[in-house]
Amino acid sequence: MREGFVCVADRSTLARNATIVCNVGNYEVAIFDVNGELFALENACPHQGGPLAEGSVERGIVTCPWHAWRFNLRTGCMTLGDFARVPRFAVIADEGRIWLGEEPIEE
Ligand code: FES
Repeated sequence: MREGFVCVADRSTLARNATIVCNVGNYEVAIFDVNGELFALENACPHQGGPLAEGSVERGIVTCPWHAWRFNLRTGCMTLGDFARVPRFAVIADEGRIWLGEEPIEE
């Protein structure tokens, strides 16, 4: 048990360079594996709510599948400017499991 974190999946359920969707509290969260490193963003694009987990990922950037807004997985910031940001979650792989922070990281 990790304080402030919730176990959401076995690590084996997330393949290398793949994405899974988990729920924590009232949030749906997309967890991205990028070459073995994990990133977690709310699975709702700030434009019109597109499912970022269904977007394509390239060089640490996810492209929303609906209208192609692009977000940095590490910061949650839109690549065109800082007027749109996706809430980020802390994510840890430990003991064969994936743990998510219970609340978005405060920016
Ligand atoms: S909903 Fe994501 S770009 Fe429009």
